[in-house]
Amino acid sequence: MTKHITILLAAATLLLSCHPNLQKSSRSEREMNRYISALMHKMTLEEKVGQLSLPVGGDITTGEPRLSNTAEDIRSGHVGGLFNLKGAEQIREVQRIAVEESRLGIPLLFGMDVIHGYETIFPIPLGMSCSWDMDAIEHAARIAAIEATADGICWTFSPMVDISHDGRWGRISEGSGEDPYLGARIAEVMVRGYQTDQLADSTSMLACVKHFALYGAVEGGREYNFVDMSRYRMFNEYMAPYEAAVKAGAGSVMAAFNVVEGVPCHGNKWLLTDVLREQWGFKGFVVADYTGIEHLQDNGVTPSHELAAIQAIQAGLDMDMASSAYQTLIGAVRNGKVSVATIDDACRRILEAKYKLGLFEDPYRYCHPARRAVVRCAEHREAARKIAAESMVLLKNEGNLLPLAKHGTIALIGPLADARTHMAGTWSVAAVHEHYKTLREGMADALQGTGAELLYAKGSNLMYDAEQEGIISIFGHDIRDSRSAGAMREEALNVARKADVIVCAMGEGSESAGECASRVNIELYDAQRDLLAALLKLGKPIVLLHFAGRPTVLEWESKHVPAIIETWFSGSEGADAIADVLFGDINPSGHLTTQLPHHVGQYPFSYRYYRTSRPNTGGTFGKYSTCYQDVSTYPLYPFGYGLSYTDFEVSEPVWTKQAGDTIGIISTTITNTGHREGATVLQLYLSDPFSEGVRPYIELCGFERISLKAGESQIVTFAITPDMLAYYNPKGIKTIEPGEYQLRVGLNSRDLSKPVIFQL
Ligand code: NOJ
Repeated sequence: MTKHITILLAAATLLLSCHPNLQKSSRSEREMNRYISALMHKMTLEEKVGQLSLPVGGDITTGEPRLSNTAEDIRSGHVGGLFNLKGAEQIREVQRIAVEESRLGIPLLFGMDVIHGYETIFPIPLGMSCSWDMDAIEHAARIAAIEATADGICWTFSPMVDISHDGRWGRISEGSGEDPYLGARIAEVMVRGYQTDQLADSTSMLACVKHFALYGAVEGGREYNFVDMSRYRMFNEYMAPYEAAVKAGAGSVMAAFNVVEGVPCHGNKWLLTDVLREQWGFKGFVVADYTGIEHLQDNGVTPSHELAAIQAIQAGLDMDMASSAYQTLIGAVRNGKVSVATIDDACRRILEAKYKLGLFEDPYRYCHPARRAVVRCAEHREAARKIAAESMVLLKNEGNLLPLAKHGTIALIGPLADARTHMAGTWSVAAVHEHYKTLREGMADALQGTGAELLYAKGSNLMYDAEQEGIISIFGHDIRDSRSAGAMREEALNVARKADVIVCAMGEGSESAGECASRVNIELYDAQRDLLAALLKLGKPIVLLHFAGRPTVLEWESKHVPAIIETWFSGSEGADAIADVLFGDINPSGHLTTQLPHHVGQYPFSYRYYRTSRPNTGGTFGKYSTCYQDVSTYPLYPFGYGLSYTDFEVSEPVWTKQAGDTIGIISTTITNTGHREGATVLQLYLSDPFSEGVRPYIELCGFERISLKAGESQIVTFAITPDMLAYYNPKGIKTIEPGEYQLRVGLNSRDLSKPVIFQL
């Protein structure tokens, strides 16, 4: 008797070959191969190595600026693509140099960090994930592609699919939170939104899955820090979204800045070749992160850029970014240290991407300025406003303070209330801030003609002067008020005294999250906490609109402030979207994809914690149980949590065994028992009480976003198939073990139904 049913990894390869993006008819693939072989036959070694180079094209840098004579390099065939150059005319001109002035006229790739929209900016990815709305997320990626390709870009460095369990890490803002199952679903739809199944369509762009791999697990949440974990953990917790994106057909992958198993990702053959290509069947090309190859030297694994380049290319890294390390490969080939075949493989993969994008057919296909009319068009902005509202999470609503009525006097207070450049959020490189409304403007528009009065005072800067010292450079775009903290607070209190209700727009600055934005104190900055405390003393109803690029500690606020909405950074249409939710034109439906801790010391932290010896019950201190003496083991607001202005009831689930490929169906009825239409997210969690390897108590394995009118009910069913029960066992084999399984449903990961139990 076989103890385990093993899913053969070969099955994954089979699946991959069925993907529409990769399912080119063998004829067109043969044509592509013939075309590229003929081209490569004419290429010199220098020109082949040139294809492996991706210098910064514009003045948007994401590392130390690098200067070079790019135009001349393009003419000499030493450049394969450029990134962060903006504008169809400019890109057309650079493409013209490549096509008309270089010997072989090979077109360039133009990449950009189009992370959550182009000029129509969607919420930061962490926020967007809280919508759990796969159609809307795919649509957001589609709109980003339509706008970026209309402006000359054919390659986005997105989706960022790094799972993170650590709110200290600033880049948690760029991903989809803490759960690998949800992260994988989001990765798939984003790839589809960018690439569609017609990569050669001029509104499609090449996706780039990043950062491969495990970047979200940097120790202590400190940016670029060491990563170390067992393969057991990496395959069960971190790898699923990368794999899903690859299997959805993503054309490129970016290496991560960190180390995996002692080897930097940029030079890690096990990762870039064995796992990515051999195990998962990836057929695209791998690009370095910004100067990432040179960092092998910082890591101390190679004494020179030359050796770093050799290690990287041999590991399977095809394209260099923002460095000239790969130029040294010419010498390495001549000295016999790298084979021509290795260079050829990398060069071919990059040329294939260009071919699939249709650049050889028409190198200017993304360079038609007339197409720009679509950028920030009404339809795109409407979609951004809708998903921005869906991404907001109502954390607390004591006494149904929200939604606010559009009458009386409302005082809007806080450093983020009228802060235009903070609306878009981090990683909005194509943003045109002057077009985006501030919250104050959005609220004023929403109140127009209602007779309600909107008063405003900034109340404080983001931080006290002393707190901001040292990190001042990242706040270049923040307009700091030169008045004293006392004078600003006094003004705010005077304004608040005249109001019926106070709305506070507070939180971190947009660049307090994102790259190189690790923080250990993730509570509200003192300047704002002190202001909030002073406002609370007025005894008036207060709503906190909390702007954040990460999960933060809202312990104090949750105790003292009656109503809190986590707005994240909600993008170019965020101001209108916040007003929609605040005044109830849209009922909030966001659910956390990263749980909020009571205390920063709980990190790393996830709802998906493993069964331990001496388990803890109730979350509080219990001698000889796994717990803390001074803080709960539970989160303040759990994964999957989010309130609504209406109420939902979920019935106990029912299990119906099936024959054939489906093991059974779990069904439950969800009812809107309140008085408003609303949406919520029904979540399905799996438990495997006995397994060879230790598994988490619960793991998300399904979800559905449901909209219901007041009083309406819907039966929701989930078909349970064997692959949903699989995990990587301690030997690293993807396995489904026979025995008992349990399933629970609920509207967050803590308040779950009784389990339905079945045997496999
Ligand atoms: C550095 C970041 O780590 C990466 O996410 C980004 O795509 C590149 N720079 C290019 O800007």
